[in-house]
Amino acid sequence: MGLLDVETIRKTFPFFDPAADGTRPPVYLDSAATTQKPAVVLDALNAYYTRSNANVHRGVYRLAVEATELYEGARRKVAAFVGAARSEEIVFTKNATEAVNLLANALMWADDEHRLGPGDEIVVTEMEHHSNLIPWRLVAERAGAKISYLGITDDGRLDLSALEERVTERTKLVAVVHASNILGTVNPIAPIAARAADVGALLLVDAAQSVPHMAVDVRELGADFVTFSGHKMCGPTGIGVLWGKHHLLAALPPFLGGGEMIETVTLDAMAYAPPPLRFEAGTPPVAQAVGLGAACDFLAGLGMDNIAAHDQALIEYALERLGRVPGIRFIGPEDTADRLPLMSFVINGVPLQQVRTALDGAGIAVRSGHHCAQLACSRFGIPAAVRASFYLYNTPAEVDILADTLERTRGSAGTAVRTTWETPADAADTTPVRPYKEILLPSVFEPWGRALVGALAPAPGTRALDVGTGPGTVARLLAAAVGPGGAVVGTDLSPAMLALAGEEPPVPGGAPIQYVECGAAPLHVSDAAFDLVTMQQVLQYVPDRAAAAAEMRRAARPGARVAVATWLPLGRNPLFAALHAALASVLGDGVAEMFEEPWSLDGDEVAELLSAAGFTRVKQERWSVQVTIPGGPDDLACLFGLSAAGGEVAGLGAARRTALRDAVRARLAGHTDAAGVHGVTAAAVVTAVAP
Ligand SMILES: Cc1ncc(COP(=O)(O)O)c(C=O)c1O
Repeated sequence: MGLLDVETIRKTFPFFDPAADGTRPPVYLDSAATTQKPAVVLDALNAYYTRSNANVHRGVYRLAVEATELYEGARRKVAAFVGAARSEEIVFTKNATEAVNLLANALMWADDEHRLGPGDEIVVTEMEHHSNLIPWRLVAERAGAKISYLGITDDGRLDLSALEERVTERTKLVAVVHASNILGTVNPIAPIAARAADVGALLLVDAAQSVPHMAVDVRELGADFVTFSGHKMCGPTGIGVLWGKHHLLAALPPFLGGGEMIETVTLDAMAYAPPPLRFEAGTPPVAQAVGLGAACDFLAGLGMDNIAAHDQALIEYALERLGRVPGIRFIGPEDTADRLPLMSFVINGVPLQQVRTALDGAGIAVRSGHHCAQLACSRFGIPAAVRASFYLYNTPAEVDILADTLERTRGSAGTAVRTTWETPADAADTTPVRPYKEILLPSVFEPWGRALVGALAPAPGTRALDVGTGPGTVARLLAAAVGPGGAVVGTDLSPAMLALAGEEPPVPGGAPIQYVECGAAPLHVSDAAFDLVTMQQVLQYVPDRAAAAAEMRRAARPGARVAVATWLPLGRNPLFAALHAALASVLGDGVAEMFEEPWSLDGDEVAELLSAAGFTRVKQERWSVQVTIPGGPDDLACLFGLSAAGGEVAGLGAARRTALRDAVRARLAGHTDAAGVHGVTAAAVVTAVAP
C-alpha cells in the first residue's frame, strides 16, 4: 500500500512485538489520539538519559554543553522539518494545547498593536479541537473579546462562504484547525490566510493532526503561528511546539515567568530573553525535545509524501470497506480528497457503548466520545462517535478486522430475554423489556408516538433527540418524519432497552438513528445540537426531573421545540385504573400504591419544570388516545412488571397469581372483546420553545 513498506516499518516499533507471554498488542487504530513510538525515538530518549543528562543553558561543563547542544539540535531539526526560517522560531512547550494557551495569554498581555482586548474579534471554526477553542473562549471572557465562528458544511468541509463576513477589520486573530481530529477534513488555509492578511488579522493554524501526516511548510501555509504536538508524530509525550514568525514572537511578552526566560533582572526592572527562551521558563523538556528531534528524522527518512500516499490509500480503502457495514453513518467527508486517514462513525441502531465494548473485546483500540470537538458533534446532531484513526504502521488487514467486527456487532445487536407477566417467577432475574416491546409498544406507545410526532410535524432535515427512548418507538417515528437529511438520537438509561432498539433495521427512507445510553441525572447529551427534543411517558420515572429538564434545555438549539408527554392520573386512565384496583383487591392498598406512585405527573409540574429550565412559550394540553391491546387483560397486566409493584407481583405464589389474574380480567371485562382490551388513555402534553 502506498510507498511504505509497512511490514518492515512495524518491525521498528517495539509496540507491535508480541509480549514475552505471547500476547499480542491490540489492533491500534487510535493514532489521532497519540502514535506509537519507533525504536529510534525510544533509543534517543534512553541514550540522552543514560549518557547526556544535564540541565541546559546553565552549566559550562562539557556534559551541560552537550545536553544544551542536543536540545538546541532538536530545535534545529524541528525547524527544518516544518520549514521554519530559523530555529529561534520554534518554541518548545508541553504539548499543542499549551502552545495555544501560551499564545492566547501572550496576546492578552501584548502591546497595543497585538493586544486582544475589549471589542476585538477572534474568529474560530466549529470544527476546532477544544485546545484551539477554549483558550480563545477564555480570552473572550477575560479580556472582553468577541468570538465568532466559521461553520461546517453538510459534507463535513469548512464553510468558507461567510469568510468575508466573519473575518473583518475588527478581527484581531483567526484560529483555525489545519486538519480536523473528528471529521478528518484537511482545510484549505490559503484563502483564510489571504483574508486575514487583507484585514490585518493574525492567523494561528492548529496543525496537531496535519504535521504527522503530510509535509507542512509553515511559511508556505501563510500562517503567523502554528502549533503541534510531539506525541502525535512518533515523538514522546510532554513536548509540543509553537512556531511563530520571528518578529511577532519578538514583539510578544512572556506567558510564564521564571528561570531562563529573563535576560537581566534588578530590584525594579527586568529585560526578557529573546525568543524562543522568553517563552520557555524553567527547565525545559530536554529529553522529550531530543526524542522529538529523532521522530522528525524518522519521519523525514520515510518521506512525508510517502506517508501521505500511504494514508490516502488506507483511507480510501477504509471508507469503501466500512461503508459496507450495514447502518454505518460517517461523520465527516466521504470523499477522500484533502482527508486525514481517520473516520468517525456511528452505527444506526446500535448503541455506542455496545460498539465500543465489542471493539475492545475484539482487541481493537479505537476512541469513542466527543473527541474534544463538541461543536462538531453538535453540528451533526450526535453526542458522540467512534473514531478509527490510522497511521504509517497500519494495514488494510487491520481495516478488515475493524469492519468484520462491526458487522458482527450490527448482526448481534439486541439479545434481551423473553419474559411476560405470565412467567413472573423469572421476572426477578430477567428484564421486562420483551413485554414492553411486544405488547405495550405496538398497542400503547406506538399510537401515542404517532399522535405526538404527527402533531409536532417536524420538517425534513430536523435534528431530533428523543429522551428516554426505550426500544426506539418515537425515535423511529421521528426518523421517518425527518427523512434522510435529518438525524435522530435516542437516549435511555437502560442498555437492555437500547439493545432492543438496535434490533430494528434502519427506517426505510428515514434519518439515521444513534442510540446512546445516558446517565440518570443529568441525562447527558451534547450542547445545543437539536431542533426538536421529545420525551414520551418517561419524565415521571426520572429521579431528578429538574436535571433532566435542564439537560433537555442544554440539548436544544435556539428556536428548538420540546414536547413532553406524561400520563395523567389513574382517574383519567380507566384501563390503568382497573389494574390498580385489581392489585388493591388482591394485594392491598400498600402494593397498589406502588403501582400508582410514579405513574403520572401533572402537566402543571411539567410546565413548571420546563419554564425553570429556561424554555419559553410553554403550552399544556390534555390528549386522549384510543388503544387496543390484542392480547387482552393478561397482556395489559404486564405493566405491573414495569412498575414499582413489579417485584411484589413477581414474588407471588401460584394461588395469589391466579387470584390477581382473575381480578384483572374481571375489572377489564367491560373493555374486552375478541379483538382484545380497548380503552382510552390520557396524558398531558407540554410543549415549549428554547429561546
Ligand atoms: C486538532 C487537534 N488540536 C490540538 C490537539 C491537542 O493536542 P495535545 O493534547 O497534545 O495538546 C489535538 C489532540 O487530539 C488535536 O487533535
